[in-house]
Amino acid sequence: MTLIEITAAKRRREKLAVLTAYDYPTARLLDESGIDILLVGDSLGMVVLGFPDTTLVTMEHMLHHTAAVARGVQRALIVADLPFASYETPEQAVANARRLIAAGAHAVKLEGGATHAARIAAIVADGIPVMAHLGMLPQSVREEGGYKIKGRTPAAAEALLADAHAVENAGAFAVVLELVQADTAARLTAALAIPTIGIGSGTACDGQVLVTHDLIGLFPWFTPKFARQHAQIAGSIRGAAAAFIEETKRADG
Ligand code: KIV
Repeated sequence: MTLIEITAAKRRREKLAVLTAYDYPTARLLDESGIDILLVGDSLGMVVLGFPDTTLVTMEHMLHHTAAVARGVQRALIVADLPFASYETPEQAVANARRLIAAGAHAVKLEGGATHAARIAAIVADGIPVMAHLGMLPQSVREEGGYKIKGRTPAAAEALLADAHAVENAGAFAVVLELVQADTAARLTAALAIPTIGIGSGTACDGQVLVTHDLIGLFPWFTPKFARQHAQIAGSIRGAAAAFIEETKRADG
């Protein structure tokens, strides 16, 4: 999957399917299933490392998991998140984006709109593709006081539209819209030439992204309302463990 194919998908009105991966077997299984883009998201902080939010994820965590994912992928485009406080200046953003690419990512993602346009432009000028991220920004959850829907009022929708144009003009090849009110997400999708990838933002986006643990029921302690679960892996793990425990304790000798 190349950037040209991703841009062409929007022109052809073909939807893009994006899932997160943080390890070799999951990345390999999802790649073999035909996923378009694999995101090594900093959501790994919660669903893999057990942190309360993404703000404790470091570059070292991202490099370790990006390298594992890259070893399992033949076809999908691999996008890796720049974690919290790793892109405070254009220079720092470029230096850390290069490290993620060296670990095996094909592109990087960062959170922010017009305020981050210079950082996006600097990374793109260095030859590294950037996916932008607008709407609810998980790295700002502590300031925001929770995961809230964005773009509900006309003024908020206008601000998001300005941010969307800013990241497109800075050279982003796609933009994640997280928890954006569905009509606003549809408006952004129609206004941009680059694909919008929605999460909890309605069906009008050019593609959808989900945290794989939410899709397959591997993080049963919390599942976002918008995530449709297609498997219950937590139940299978508990069942297999119970069977093993029972078998071991029953055995003679
Ligand atoms: O970190 C992540 O998994 C993400 C998605 C929720 C878009 O940024």
